Amino acid sequence: MLSINELQYAYAGAQPALRGATLQVRAGGRLALLGASGAGKSTLLLHTNGVLLPQSGQVMVGGIQVAKETLRQVRQQVGLVFQDPDDQLFHLTVGEDVAFGPRNFGLSEDAVQQRVREALAAMRLDGFEERINQQLSFGERRRASLATVLAMRPALLVLDEPFANLDPQMVQSLIELLRAFPGTVLLASQDIVPALACCDEAAVMEKGRVAAQGSVREVAGDRDLLRRCGVDFWYLAEILDGLR
Ligand SMILES: Nc1ncnc2c1ncn2[C@@H]1O[C@H](COP(=O)(O)OP(=O)(O)OP(=O)(O)O)[C@@H](O)[C@H]1O
Ligand SMILES: [Mg+2]
Repeated sequence: MLSINELQYAYAGAQPALRGATLQVRAGGRLALLGASGAGKSTLLLHTNGVLLPQSGQVMVGGIQVAKETLRQVRQQVGLVFQDPDDQLFHLTVGEDVAFGPRNFGLSEDAVQQRVREALAAMRLDGFEERINQQLSFGERRRASLATVLAMRPALLVLDEPFANLDPQMVQSLIELLRAFPGTVLLASQDIVPALACCDEAAVMEKGRVAAQGSVREVAGDRDLLRRCGVDFWYLAEILDGLR
């Protein structure tokens, strides 16, 4: 479904953020992208729907190469939830933002409103249609930004830090939602345990490259790899054990 090969990207005037990143996600797969802060996760995700275009290397989505000429086709397949909800929400109200995508697909207004209700309900934002985005809490804004993308029912759902600022019950519902998602999922997250809980594969980025990709079990069990890449999370197990 997604194939990224030797991707390189440097922001203007900065050191390269991606230095030959390679990653594959099969159709129907769910992959958790881990990596220390600054490793290049968000930069990689921004290439999946052409917000950024490769300076070198290649991104293929469902057999289509991501390029200026294919953006429309690519964006019909890929739904990207940005790390910062304020990059996602650009209308005045939650309802307008969630309706925007489905309306663009040319659905009837009834079908659009049905999608809006379903997506808001999935994010526990029932009745939030008329609420003003800027007056929501940060966690509510994140849920609203997830709803805007869910409403489009993308074949490839790409999420950047989807668990940030969610309360534990919402984290649990989101894990269940992503497990049941009827498409392909790629997510980047520093909330490693929830990320692994909803994925079957994991990859770890280190300094602009993908250092390893494998099953969740393989990656989570390779503590040397996790330590080297700055994402060893096993200390959490001791904390939880201590509380039991
Ligand atoms: N707009 C930008 N201009 C210049 N440099 C940038 C920009 N955005 C990111 N970078 C740099 O690119 C590198 C990769 O950043 P990126 O946001 O992809 O990391 P990340 O793995 O998503 O980190 P985090 O876990 O903190 O979200 C970092 O060194 C960062 O400072
Ligand atoms: Mg990031």
